[in-house]
Amino acid sequence: MSAPTGPASAAEPTTIRVATQQPYDVVVGHGVLDRLPALLPGAAERVAIVCPESLEGLLDRVLDAFPALTEDYDVTVLQIPDGEEAKTAETASACWDALGEEGFTRSDAVVTLGGGATTDLGGFVAASWLRGVAVVHVPTTLLAMVDAAVGGKTGINTDSGKNLVGAFHEPVGVLCDLSLLESLPREELVAGLAEVVKCGFIADTAILDLVEATDPAALTADAPALRELVERAVRVKADVVAGDLKETAGSAGAEHPGREALNYGHTLAHAIERASGYGVRHGEAVAVGCVFVAELAARAGDLAPEVVARHRAVLERVGLPTSYDGEADFEELLAAMRVDKKARGSVIRFVVLEDLARPVVLAGPSEADMRAAFEAVSA
Ligand code: GLY
Repeated sequence: MSAPTGPASAAEPTTIRVATQQPYDVVVGHGVLDRLPALLPGAAERVAIVCPESLEGLLDRVLDAFPALTEDYDVTVLQIPDGEEAKTAETASACWDALGEEGFTRSDAVVTLGGGATTDLGGFVAASWLRGVAVVHVPTTLLAMVDAAVGGKTGINTDSGKNLVGAFHEPVGVLCDLSLLESLPREELVAGLAEVVKCGFIADTAILDLVEATDPAALTADAPALRELVERAVRVKADVVAGDLKETAGSAGAEHPGREALNYGHTLAHAIERASGYGVRHGEAVAVGCVFVAELAARAGDLAPEVVARHRAVLERVGLPTSYDGEADFEELLAAMRVDKKARGSVIRFVVLEDLARPVVLAGPSEADMRAAFEAVSA
């Protein structure tokens, strides 16, 4: 692992508690991977590390850096394909076979080392093996640190769509080691910022202020500002899932949409990703989706034009797209939005803002409003 660098790295790690029924900590800092053995259940004898092929080098460095892992535990590496390719029933089945061969018991533990697809697949394997074994997530992308690794959503894809099979299975701990972001390609870091900015619009407007006050080129792995953004976004997510882990709170007219608020911008985003054959980065699609719902809220509700403009300004500032330039037309994207997981029956639902940090559910907006909002984000 690279040595900690910069002033932020000198600071103590920050621990953020996710206060669900089985509370756990998200540790954010530089060089926090050394906390991994302490997070494993005391009775664990076997540890399965789920890691994509492309991170084999990183995994070797982790194992070299912490010989206690291989000395104290029987470690098995479950190598999985890179990215979304890993999220299949076949990969899950290969992992189950490996756990069976190793004699994995309920007191043993899974560790994921990778991006969001790895935490989704590895979390699902942990959720399903013996009806649930402990999992520790070590996210290696910004997107996974601020979203996928926290909150216990796990899943795989099927021919019918993304994440349609899965379980809620919370980790026993999450280690967000910012040093791991040093080798993350810039486009991936920028894509992860979409989820951070989303948290700014739905809950913590200090995120927006911080992005506006920071030179975007200075948002690097060792920057104190990036660390603060990660911590703030994780706190938003921790608070939301603590109140509504299983996403049952949201209803049209409710005070707060609960966990569904985290879906801000995601309904159009999922449709864009699907239409592109998942060739578009999730964060880039979310950025466009956030502007779309802001435009929709200005039409179907009273969202002020300056808040809509702020969406474009903040997202563009960090280098994210705010308009859709793909092949799909409105009808195709609308059809995909109608079968989004968040739809209820035939009623299409969106999380929109009444104002900054005031998310609400909008159920069944008119097609004219949706079309006009889409046209406003069409390149
Ligand atoms: N990624 C949205 C959620 O965890 O609910």
